[in-house]
Amino acid sequence: MFKSEVYTKRREELRKKLKSGIALFIGNTESPMNYPDNTYHFRQDSDFLYFFGLDLPALTGMMDFDSGKDRIFGNDIDMDDIIWMGPQLTVRELAQKCGISETAPVSKLGDTIKDALSKKRKIHFLPPYRGETKMTLGVLLKENPCQMKTLASVDLIKAVISMRSIKEKVEIDEIEKAADIAYEMHVTAMKMCKHGVKEQDIFGMIEGIALAKGGGTSFPIILSINGQTLHNHSHGNILTKGRMMVTDAGAETSLHYASDITRTTPVGGKFNEKQKDIYEIVLKANTDAIKATKPGISNRDLHFMACKIIATEMKSLGLMKGDVDEAVAAGAHALFMPHGLGHMMGLDVHDMEGLGENYIGYNDKVKRSEQFGTAFLRFALPYKPGHVFTVEPGCYFIPELIGKWKAEGKFKEYINYNKIDSYMSIGGIRIEDNVLITDKGHKVLGKPIPKTIKEVESVCS
Ligand code: GLY
Ligand code: MN
Repeated sequence: MFKSEVYTKRREELRKKLKSGIALFIGNTESPMNYPDNTYHFRQDSDFLYFFGLDLPALTGMMDFDSGKDRIFGNDIDMDDIIWMGPQLTVRELAQKCGISETAPVSKLGDTIKDALSKKRKIHFLPPYRGETKMTLGVLLKENPCQMKTLASVDLIKAVISMRSIKEKVEIDEIEKAADIAYEMHVTAMKMCKHGVKEQDIFGMIEGIALAKGGGTSFPIILSINGQTLHNHSHGNILTKGRMMVTDAGAETSLHYASDITRTTPVGGKFNEKQKDIYEIVLKANTDAIKATKPGISNRDLHFMACKIIATEMKSLGLMKGDVDEAVAAGAHALFMPHGLGHMMGLDVHDMEGLGENYIGYNDKVKRSEQFGTAFLRFALPYKPGHVFTVEPGCYFIPELIGKWKAEGKFKEYINYNKIDSYMSIGGIRIEDNVLITDKGHKVLGKPIPKTIKEVESVCS
């Protein structure tokens, strides 16, 4: 974890934003796979990590905004635990690591909350996303566990988002480390991208790199020659010449900061002409959007800029037609790019998504569009220095979507359906990088991963 001052300072900052009541941060517990003691890899809750840094299960952090005191609730382990798990620090010793001196066993949490409820004190908590946390909150607050998401504190959500959105230097260093691990993963995948190789072999190899060099992957790896399925988590195909492999994969550092990179590689390492056509379009959308990234410009502006590049270039290939601005305003480009340009990244790969995307990327003035494609844009607001974003345009040939729109005659004034057939074998192409917004511009994080056609062909050979 970081030095204790990092966590003390963050809690001080939160105290300035929320002046009264109590905030409860319930850390994650172990999550069983198929019987209680056979658990998934433990992942601590990101908000708990942000304010307390302790990467162990079954701890709760409490902040009392009236008394100014913080407390960690947790149970010290006993001899049986030591025999099976080895010696561990006491809860008191753990708490000191994040600058907290008050601790109590978990059994005292109920009494503390009961007392606060009897005094009608406000108890702030963030929206829970795990069943165990919902149950714990439900029992403590005497509320229906299924309602806990709607009862979460909007004041706390907004305060936490305002803090976690702006990354500190120590956090940027971590994200950069995560991006460097992604470099190793992606270069390895590119080198293995040969005719006859199983997707599963490459998937296993790069997942192993994430585990060997950091804290594992930051989300389940997407790796497929069917890249037209945006989140394709099945890896059962054998790579065949003429197809392209989308690899969307990132790592977590041991402190759980994420990277999220996508590269698309032609099987066999050489692009054919049609693949080059589409790849260059996505590459232009990626590089031009990155170049334009700076404080003040919004993620929505850049999203539409990338969409217009895609529509303009698709028009020059003859796949689209008509007025580009009108086509993009109508949403016709979403046939080829049905997702948003990017998302915030930090302790979560989709940073803070569990707190509610509309609190993060929208506000009272900037509302989420309901149009297909644009509705999936996760963040529409202006960038600020300290934001970390992904920039991930893509171009996809989704047979089911194309078939449906064609049958409906949808946007036939903007789309040349007959020309699309010859590009179907491409599947999908996505190119994604991780970008820090600086005072005057931006910085692409991590060691540059081969991206131009020349660079990709060279690393593959
Ligand atoms: N890398 C997967 C995503 O951003 O959704
Ligand atoms: Mn992403």
